[in-house]
Amino acid sequence: MSKKVYIESYGCQMNFSDSEIVASVLVKDGYTPVKSAEEADLVLLNTCSIREKAEYTVLQRINEMNNLKARKKGLKVGVLGCMAERMREDLLEKKKVVDLVVGPDAYRTLPDLLSKVGTGQKAVNVLLSREETYGEIEPVRLDSNGVTAFVTIMRGCDNMCAFCVVPFTRGRERSRDPHTIVRECEQLVEQGYREVTLLGQNVDSYKWTSPQPLSRGEGLPSAGIVANGHSPSPVGGGREGAVDFADLLEMVALACPTLRIRYSTSHPKDMTDKVLVVMARYANICKYIHLPVQSGSSEVLKRMNRGYDRAWYLERMVSIRDHMPECAISTDIIAGFSGETEEDHQQTLSLMNEVVYDMAFMFKYSERPKTMAARKYADDVPEDVKGRRLAEIIETQKKKSAERMASYVGQIHEVLIEGVSKRSDENMYGRNTQNSVVILSRSFNGTELKPGTFVRTEIISSTAGSLFGTVIQVLNAEPVAA
Ligand code: 5AD
Ligand code: SF4
Repeated sequence: MSKKVYIESYGCQMNFSDSEIVASVLVKDGYTPVKSAEEADLVLLNTCSIREKAEYTVLQRINEMNNLKARKKGLKVGVLGCMAERMREDLLEKKKVVDLVVGPDAYRTLPDLLSKVGTGQKAVNVLLSREETYGEIEPVRLDSNGVTAFVTIMRGCDNMCAFCVVPFTRGRERSRDPHTIVRECEQLVEQGYREVTLLGQNVDSYKWTSPQPLSRGEGLPSAGIVANGHSPSPVGGGREGAVDFADLLEMVALACPTLRIRYSTSHPKDMTDKVLVVMARYANICKYIHLPVQSGSSEVLKRMNRGYDRAWYLERMVSIRDHMPECAISTDIIAGFSGETEEDHQQTLSLMNEVVYDMAFMFKYSERPKTMAARKYADDVPEDVKGRRLAEIIETQKKKSAERMASYVGQIHEVLIEGVSKRSDENMYGRNTQNSVVILSRSFNGTELKPGTFVRTEIISSTAGSLFGTVIQVLNAEPVAA
């Protein structure tokens, strides 16, 4: 009987994607993934450190594992991901329930570590790597809807934003070999997937250089594209051995013309017009950009070490809308960063009113150990002020989201159906290219609409969070080819 592993993921998309790499390593080692901790011989919590609250949630969950262990003799519990690196001593010394601690760059060593755990010892590997990209590992898709999938294109981050713990927990930035990325996307198409999200902490600094000079036809982007019978692109240029993010996007768009392509996350200081040109050119690249602004105040951005100011960010907005007027933009905003004044906060609200984001992820500042902000600045905005500012930011965004959603009413959108609506069995939900959720009736002309179907939809009404549409045509097989 094979051993059973249950992996529970917290935090960002990258962590969920990492869990699929972990599953792949463990399946090769004889494990079968299961859907609950109760069924498992091994429970792995893939954790997040981005804010204190995220860590607190996981610490609570670790405590719950004590009870489960009491009921299930032989159950082993491991902590993976960002907290592993940050809190290994605490975890191993204070949380007796934890048998195993493994950092984000050490997942290949899981089988060895697990044999150690099997002999009753504790095992730990939190070494960070400058090279590890898990390039050739074929992820085992967990909790998949069979329609959308994540593909990691790079790991780590070199940016050192003052508030952010990521460079400490995930290490230096490195890019994955583009050939393995394209291959993984092609495999997803073969398996029936319809949409992929290319993931990195800062995709705009994706850079891959061939270890040895490649001759034509050996697989670099333009060579590969010619071999596939497509014409080489004038956008790519300068591809003699180096692939940047725009090149990579184009490679995937051309290699997988029936696959919808998204990506996350962009960085305003690095986002180039070359990427926008590629996005505009290919219909199968979604017209949606997640571009975290963090603050509307140039003073705060400077202390955050973001590498751009308000004017630069607004210029990037203009460029996006020049290249793709229909493009949706979402953002991340932090309320109450060190030294943030009322005037700074007003600047954030005014930027939100100026940009009109489709969507935003909004947070209270949470000081993280080791970060530049923790070392240099006091966490001096009182908790109640942070709370009030966050509430104002959320309120502003609600109005702007409602405005954006309302502007789509009356338009015809191509929607990829992902599944049955959580609110009603009678409805399906999907997304348009702008990444907004669209609710549709489950049947069209007497036939049931299935996940993975592309439909032309008239948008008939909206709320701040979703759109409601009427299907006018089922498109499918050849959905969004350029
Ligand atoms: N406190 C609050 N929010 C944070 N983020 C990152 N670090 C912190 C922090 N210390 C937010 C940023 C980032 C998103 C992933 O999480 O907005 O873009
Ligand atoms: Fe953190 Fe900045 Fe890296 Fe994003 S880009 S993960 S905010 S350091």
